Amino acid sequence: MTNNVYGIDLGTCNMKIYSKVTNKILNEKNTIALVNKNQIYACGDAAYAMYEKAPEAIQVTFPVVGGVIADFNNLQAMLQLYLEKNAKGRLRGAEFIVAVPTDITEVEKKAFFDMFFRSKLKPKSVLLCEKPIADAVGLGLDVNEPTGIMIVDIGADTTEISVISLGGLVLSVLLHSGGNKIDESIITHVKRNYNLVIGQKTAQSMKEQLGSGIPGNEDKMIVVGRDVVSGLPIEMEMSGGVVYEAIKDNLNSICNSIKMILEKTPPELARDIIHSGIYITGGSSQIHDLDQLFNQITGMRINTCEEPDECVVRGLVKIVSDSKYKHLAFSMKSKILI
Ligand SMILES: Nc1ncnc2c1ncn2[C@@H]1O[C@H](COP(=O)(O)OP(=O)(O)OP(=O)(O)O)[C@@H](O)[C@H]1O
Ligand SMILES: [Mg+2]
Repeated sequence: MTNNVYGIDLGTCNMKIYSKVTNKILNEKNTIALVNKNQIYACGDAAYAMYEKAPEAIQVTFPVVGGVIADFNNLQAMLQLYLEKNAKGRLRGAEFIVAVPTDITEVEKKAFFDMFFRSKLKPKSVLLCEKPIADAVGLGLDVNEPTGIMIVDIGADTTEISVISLGGLVLSVLLHSGGNKIDESIITHVKRNYNLVIGQKTAQSMKEQLGSGIPGNEDKMIVVGRDVVSGLPIEMEMSGGVVYEAIKDNLNSICNSIKMILEKTPPELARDIIHSGIYITGGSSQIHDLDQLFNQITGMRINTCEEPDECVVRGLVKIVSDSKYKHLAFSMKSKILI
């Protein structure tokens, strides 16, 4: 088998690219800075650094929204530039395996396929794989077994709750909420209760430092924002309690969806899930004590993992490298969609 293989997870917030040549994962913000609407000025982390700080002439955009491709041409151009700069292998004739969310239309799936298949990279093959399946393989679970596995992947714009058995999805739901909605809730809460306008990056760091799944976090941090009354920038101390109040409804709605999927799970698979516990992945699963909250709600053991945002791409690597898992990926070459 050739080494010219790339595993790609194009998330709403981060793009994770695995290159078999280097055996490394590149993880950068899925962000493009454009000038004149379609000229790429910067991409990845460099473009994200400009977010909320750029002058009018530079537009900082996120080409993946709600887990699906929102800006095909610019994303394709950025990926090509990015891969040419960072991928150490030959790109022409390479094999790509791309993760796609479940519960999206065939047209939206085909866009992920065409992103590579119809590109100047002229790949040898493009395969797709459903994210929850890649997640499970990335967790080191044997998805081919007739055993029920429940995965909750909490990303930036999406939360996917899935039950897997025998290499396929038995149940799955794609919620259009995740880390970004949580950030928005923090911004709204702080503005309404403290008359302070904060940016998305500030909300994100409040979530990462002070956020928790259960009340009682006493940590504090100083944030800078604009006072609604005076219009001037000010510093204010924020506590874990403030962030908990802001995000608790978002977390509860994820809990309700987990319960709904559990209620629909066939009893024999539910037995397996009770035995092995629920697996949580995705960057937003790192909110402190989220596992404790889910445990309180479901009564089940909650399994976490290291670097949960890279779980999908780690799974893609195994799927292309191990003949046991190759059948989990599929092609869309023969499908013509109008
Ligand atoms: N330590 C942390 N605590 C809480 N949230 C975090 C932490 N680190 C990252 N996040 C959040 O994780 C999200 C990014 O996770 P991830 O990379 O899994 O999303 P994505 O794959 O880009 O999105 P999606 O799967 O929804 O398309 C962001 O919303 C980010 O704020
Ligand atoms: Mg993701």
